[in-house]
Amino acid sequence: MKKGIILAGGTGSRLRPLTAGVSKQLLPVYDKPMIYYPLSVLMLAGIRDILVISTPEELPRFETVLGDGAQLGLRLSYEPQSAPRGIAEAILIGAEFIGSDSFALVLGDNILFGDGISRRLQSLGEGRNATIFAYQVRDPERYGIVEFNREGHPTAIVEKPAKPLSNHAVIGLYFYPNDAIDLARHLTPSARGELEITDLNAAYLAQNRLSVERLGRGYAWFDAGTADSLLDAANLVGAIEKRQNLKIGCIEEIAWRMNWISTGKFRRLGESLRPSEYGRYILDVCDGIR
Ligand code: DAU
Repeated sequence: MKKGIILAGGTGSRLRPLTAGVSKQLLPVYDKPMIYYPLSVLMLAGIRDILVISTPEELPRFETVLGDGAQLGLRLSYEPQSAPRGIAEAILIGAEFIGSDSFALVLGDNILFGDGISRRLQSLGEGRNATIFAYQVRDPERYGIVEFNREGHPTAIVEKPAKPLSNHAVIGLYFYPNDAIDLARHLTPSARGELEITDLNAAYLAQNRLSVERLGRGYAWFDAGTADSLLDAANLVGAIEKRQNLKIGCIEEIAWRMNWISTGKFRRLGESLRPSEYGRYILDVCDGIR
């Protein structure tokens, strides 16, 4: 997978007034902006060429935070979404950027981590199938869900059902072959007026081309769209980071461990972030203390 898209637009209405002056995906999740987490997932999948999509008003702020990505050995580009017309619209906005490649799409408010995730994502093939990820939750009616038959094969995928027949939520991370662009072009807006990513995934399922990777209890997944999930995500990240003395979603460290930046460059990033604990962490990693 060579290309990645982070969709970080929307109005953040469920987090008002937190989002009155700043976009949701730039709010803090413990010690770093929210968008660091989905960005780190794409990086861990080995993706370096990444398009960030947000509202025209907020896009410059993402550019201020992440720049052109060169400091991380990445190539970041930016495109606006003029109105929240649906998650699948990201694929249409990104069509030129995607070109003839396969690609991953991640939602800017999704926080996912777990041991071995890098290997798992990198091992996904680039075949004809789309790959989505299912995660068991207590409140499936809040999400897109996937139903399975007895053999464990997916049989249906439904957006926010009132009476869910499965508690496996579809997380906001999707791996697509190139023809997702064509399929997205043929989607029609749903009753809520959006191009639904669930409709695209259902199209792959109808063609028998949908792979579902189940994420078990070794993984943490949050969609940080409400005050509670934002706090839960921050608490979990904080607890693990303090306990293990290892950071989750430290994009500078990932770039260094992926060998995309030199140790000298990594150290300079740490120095530029001093005197924060985050900057000190990078310098400690450089010094081999962790
Ligand atoms: O988080 C996983 C869930 O994300 C999936 O289980 C659902 O199938 C999927 O539809 C989506 O559900 P949400 O209710 O979270 O979707 P929401 O409309 O809140 O959009 C998710 C994020 O994408 C949100 O942070 C804002 C951003 N967004 C959304 C739309 C519709 C955009 O940037 N542009 C858009 O047009």
